[in-house]
Amino acid sequence: MGEVDPAFIQDPEHRPKLSIIKAEGIPSIDLSPVTLQDFISYPKSIEGVVREIGNACKEWGFFQVINHGVPLEKLHRIQAAARKFFAQPLEDKRKIRRDERNALGYFDTESTKNIRDWKEVFDFSMEDTTLVPASPDPEDKEEATWTNQWPEYPPELREACEEYTQEVEKLALKLLGLIARSLGLPENRFNSYFKDQSTRIRLNHYPPCPSPQLALGVGRHKDGGALTVLAQDEIGGLEVKRKTDGEWIRVQPTPNAYIINVGDIMQVWSNDRYESVEHRVMVDSEKERFSIPFFFNPAHYTLVKPVEELIDEQNPAKYRPYSWGKFMTHRRLSNFKKLGVDNIQIYDFRL
Ligand code: OGA
Ligand code: NI
Repeated sequence: MGEVDPAFIQDPEHRPKLSIIKAEGIPSIDLSPVTLQDFISYPKSIEGVVREIGNACKEWGFFQVINHGVPLEKLHRIQAAARKFFAQPLEDKRKIRRDERNALGYFDTESTKNIRDWKEVFDFSMEDTTLVPASPDPEDKEEATWTNQWPEYPPELREACEEYTQEVEKLALKLLGLIARSLGLPENRFNSYFKDQSTRIRLNHYPPCPSPQLALGVGRHKDGGALTVLAQDEIGGLEVKRKTDGEWIRVQPTPNAYIINVGDIMQVWSNDRYESVEHRVMVDSEKERFSIPFFFNPAHYTLVKPVEELIDEQNPAKYRPYSWGKFMTHRRLSNFKKLGVDNIQIYDFRL
């Protein structure tokens, strides 16, 4: 990527400020009571973690975790493999390009809200195939499959990805349980939705950009799934829209921490107790950056709606049920075809 193509240029009100607000950041939560000991023998300190997570979800929608239990060598291995993969010539990467039928593989022309993102990505799923609806049409009951496309180079990438995601899945499940508890629900309340999960993992590469004040690595957006578990490197660039005043706050890289955010599905399940918060990625004129989000998503046939235990006459449901798979395929297709309209949002299902 050389000079900035107009397709990348953000409208003036969405351009990043080069002076970064570093003040009070997102909460950092130590998971050692959960990861180092078992749940039952240490109820007190786990209750503390549950409270911290509940407050972070309410106040920020974002938090970092340390002592999370994911072995560092697994993270380093996937990071090194990602570097090697993206360092290849474009034509080699495009051999496994994703297309209209298969959402998995390499892609370098993604847009957010119809503006190009200054990045390239490699997407894969937990299982080698993922069942999804064949079309966004609610009447169409046909299913389709997405299939992982592994590159020839580097040869260790596949194993590095598979081993890494098994570890991050354990963390994601723990977090799901802690979030459920923070809502006063049984720890396993959401687990059944993930039996045929449609989780996707992404290797992001943000190359240096000659005009970081005009373009974004990822434009402002909310994650559509349940929970995101993100590894970022030491460069930094992720910004979160602070709920109290709408300012964009930089998430400072903390070595070996994960950044967690609740997605739209958690917002609906919790009936707006936990909101999915807007975020975006700034790029740098000299430094490239890598990140690895794990998008923890339920089975495509999941009907997403506020959980019954959280609604009553005083707190009626704020959303009508929607199909996660249909939502996801609708988004994907409108991105792919660049329909020029704003994408489907959970707001469309608000009562
Ligand atoms: C995303 C995202 C943040 C980052 O891919 O949805 O928000 O730091 N990524 O790469
Ligand atoms: Ni995101």
